[in-house]
Amino acid sequence: MVINSAAIRWHGDFLELLDQRVLPTETVWLPIRNSDEAAAAIRDMVVRGAPAIGITAAYGLALEAGRQAEDASMENLADAIDTLAASRPTAVNLFWALKRLQATGDALRGSALVDALTQDAEAIHQEDIAANHALGAFGAALLPDNATVYTHCNTGALATGGHGTALGIIRTAWEQQRLKGVYAGETRPWLQGSRLTSWELANDGIPVTLVADSTAGQLMAQGKIQAVVVGADRITANGDTANKIGTYNLAVLAQYHRIPFIVAAPVSTLDPALADGSHIIIEERHADEVRHVQGKPVAPSQVAVYNPAFDVTPAGLITAIVTERGVIDRPNTDKVLAHLHKP
Ligand code: MRU
Repeated sequence: MVINSAAIRWHGDFLELLDQRVLPTETVWLPIRNSDEAAAAIRDMVVRGAPAIGITAAYGLALEAGRQAEDASMENLADAIDTLAASRPTAVNLFWALKRLQATGDALRGSALVDALTQDAEAIHQEDIAANHALGAFGAALLPDNATVYTHCNTGALATGGHGTALGIIRTAWEQQRLKGVYAGETRPWLQGSRLTSWELANDGIPVTLVADSTAGQLMAQGKIQAVVVGADRITANGDTANKIGTYNLAVLAQYHRIPFIVAAPVSTLDPALADGSHIIIEERHADEVRHVQGKPVAPSQVAVYNPAFDVTPAGLITAIVTERGVIDRPNTDKVLAHLHKP
């Protein structure tokens, strides 16, 4: 089967990833033929965004099984699973996808295993697109009419199978003619907001205004924001949410200004195994990501740097979590666990 997404092209026997490190100035597709190449692409940010990472890991494992051909077995794929799992620690979709494929392939070997893993990876890809359209509709209904929303990082078609999570809500609200516009924070240090979100929204003709991250408070104080809509990398049982560094700042600001703070994510981003956000492993990335901007030094070369890629927003600051199954209003453990049991 061939599946074409904005940043993930599956050709049935190999994968292509749009290199998100060089967008929007260059369009480069990189071929991925095995699990090592998939893991490297995740680690090096060729592909990023929790759902897209999960989809890529699933295809990487299926490709590895294909390489092993008649020798393929879950035991022989153990190293590939370990390599993929070590690529990035915070987005639970990566581990969710690998566990799902392990269960799928459990009793199978050889070509039967290759076929089953390939079909499941394709299903994960397609289910994510459907989930985003569903959650987009649930989330759009939460926005006031003619709203201007603030978003952070990139949660769009590039970060998912398609449509997007927080950007899926924004896209759906725009299609319904209920959205006035979007402020996108630039999202230092990787600039997903300026390079990716403003590019995606501008391509769709959705009015977007790019701001430096430090502008959010001023916008809210001026009454220019009616909702903050963000994605998630991992949501624990009580609703605490890990997302791109700077999300927590926005939640505190939104609470102070009494602005709804909405988290959008597929059910595959919920991690009921962790009771609360204190258990989430937060990825720390290389100091040069902060010392440089787009490869150009902007700080003394030896200055100490703290570079966590994510922060945790406590559930108490979250107005609603939106998934493809509906809305968790004012999330807590009972509500999140009940939501997971919904069909
Ligand atoms: O470091 P990134 O670019 O992978 O971080 C991405 C985010 O934080 C997104 O908000 C999250 O993964 C949700 S993407 C639908």
